[in-house]
Amino acid sequence: MMLENQKDTETLRQYDFMEKARGYVKKKSEELGRPLTFCVTTFGCQMNARDSEKLRGILEKIGYVEAEEEKADFVIYNTCTVRENANTRVYGRLGQLKPRKKKNPHMMIGLCGCMMQEPEVVEKLKKSYHFIDIIFGTHNIFKFAELIVTRFESERMVIDIWKDTDMIVEDLPNERKYFFKSGVNIMFGCNNFCSYCIVPYVRGRERSRKPEAIIREIERLVADGVVEVMLLGQNVNSYGKTLDTPMTFAQLLREIEKIKGLERIRFMTSHPKDLSDELIEVMGQSKKICKHLHLPVQSGSSRILKEMNRRYTKEQYLTLVEKIRKAVPDISLTTDIIVGFPGETEEDFQETLDIVRKVRYDSAFTFIYSKRTGTPAAVMEDQVPEDVIKDRFDRLLSEVQTIASEVCSVHEGTAQTVLVESVSDHDSSMVTGRLSNNLLVHFEGSQELIGQLVDVHLTECKGFYYLGSLAD
Ligand code: SAH
Ligand code: SF4
Ligand code: F3S
Repeated sequence: MMLENQKDTETLRQYDFMEKARGYVKKKSEELGRPLTFCVTTFGCQMNARDSEKLRGILEKIGYVEAEEEKADFVIYNTCTVRENANTRVYGRLGQLKPRKKKNPHMMIGLCGCMMQEPEVVEKLKKSYHFIDIIFGTHNIFKFAELIVTRFESERMVIDIWKDTDMIVEDLPNERKYFFKSGVNIMFGCNNFCSYCIVPYVRGRERSRKPEAIIREIERLVADGVVEVMLLGQNVNSYGKTLDTPMTFAQLLREIEKIKGLERIRFMTSHPKDLSDELIEVMGQSKKICKHLHLPVQSGSSRILKEMNRRYTKEQYLTLVEKIRKAVPDISLTTDIIVGFPGETEEDFQETLDIVRKVRYDSAFTFIYSKRTGTPAAVMEDQVPEDVIKDRFDRLLSEVQTIASEVCSVHEGTAQTVLVESVSDHDSSMVTGRLSNNLLVHFEGSQELIGQLVDVHLTECKGFYYLGSLAD
C-alpha cells in the first residue's frame, strides 16, 4: 500500500505535467492560429465513461477545447474489450482515422482503456497502426498529462501499460457530462473471475477507495450542483473488504445518505453472491437510494451458473429477489443475461426463460456469449453453434420485452418525482426526466427544468417509457 502523502505527491507531480503540457499546447495553437481541439469517445461501461470524464478534465486543464471527432486535433478512444464486437468497432474507427491523420500530420491519436491491457492488442497496434501517438491502459490514466508531454518531446509512439496497480490517485481534474448528476468510483478492479469474463484481467485486482475520499468527492459534487450520484464498481457489494479499516457497502451507503443536498443515490453493479441482508435493510430504510437494482443473473441454470463461477444457484437468486421485494416492494429490477455459454443446452436455456418469467425484470441486457482469450470459458468444450445461439437470443429477447412492457405500465396514472435530465430528443417543447426506478418520462417543459427534481403525472406508458405532465 502506498502512503497517503505519496499519493498526494503523485497528484502534484501530475499537475506539474499539466502545466508543462499547457505550454506545448499553447505554442501549437499559436502556430495554427486557433485553439487545439479534442474528442474523447467512450466504448464500454460506466467505469469507462467516468474515466473519460477524467481524461476530458485533464485535456481542458492543459488548454484543449472539446470538439466533434471530425474536427478534433486530438482523438482519444477509451476502449472496451468485454465482448469481441467492442474490439472490432475500435479497429474499424482506427481504419477511418488513418487517412485523416495522413492529411493532417499534426493530429494526435490516443488509445486507452480495457482493450489496451491485452498484450496481443498492443502488439497488433505496434505492428500495423504506426499512426497512433499514445497508448496507455486502465491503471495509469492519471498519467495522461505526463504521457502527452512525453509525446510532445519525443515524436515517437508512446506506450505505457501497467499490469496492475495498488495506486489510487485522488483529486485530479475531471469534466462532468451533466452538472446535476455524476458517477463516483467507489472501487476499481474485480476479483470474481467469472469464467467468461475478461474484466478481472484488464482492470486488475479489486481495491476500494477510502470512504473519506468518496464522501469528500460527493460533498464537492453536491456543492457544485449535483443532486444524484451513481456509485460505481464491478461488484459494489464487496466494497471495503480490502481497506485497512474494513467497511461494508451498506455502511458506506449510510454515510453517503447523510450528505446534505444530495437527493438520490444509485449504484452498480451488484453481484448477487455478495448482496447482504444489511444492504437490503439499508435500501428499505433509505430516503435517497433509488428504487432500482441492477442484479445480473447471467443464466437461470444452476449448472451453467456453476460453470460460470458465479457462486449462486437459481434458487438462491430467486430467494434473494424475494427478500429484496419484501423490503422494497416497488423496486425495479434489471439484469444482464448471457446466451450461448459453452455447454448451454436447450434445457439450460429453458431455465433462463423460467427465471426471467419468475422475476419479471423491468428490463434486461441480453448478450450473446463472446469468447475472450485467456478466460477459462474460452477453452471449454461444447461451444454452442452460432445459429442455435441466435435462435435462443431471439426467443429470450422477445420474452424479456413482453414482460418489461407489462411491468413498466404498472405505474401508469401515478405521480412520481423525476430528475429532469434533458430537452427531449424528439420534441423541443418537451423535457425528459428519470424516475427513481430509472424509467424515463417525457413531458411538456423547458430547459430551465434541467437538473431539478419535479413531480410528474405518468399519463401514458409507451412500452419502455412514459408520457406525462408536470403536477401542480
Ligand atoms: N461486474 C458486472 C458486469 C460487468 S460486464 C457483474 O458482474 O454484474 C457487463 C456484462 O457483460 C456482464 O454482466 C455480462 O452479462 C456481460 N459479459 C461479460 N463477459 C461477457 C462475454 N464474454 N460474453 C458475453 N457477455 C459478457
Ligand atoms: Fe466480470 Fe464477474 Fe467481475 Fe462482473 S463480477 S466484472 S462479470 S468477473
Ligand atoms: Fe468494457 Fe472495461 Fe467496462 S472491458 S465493460 S469498459 S470494465
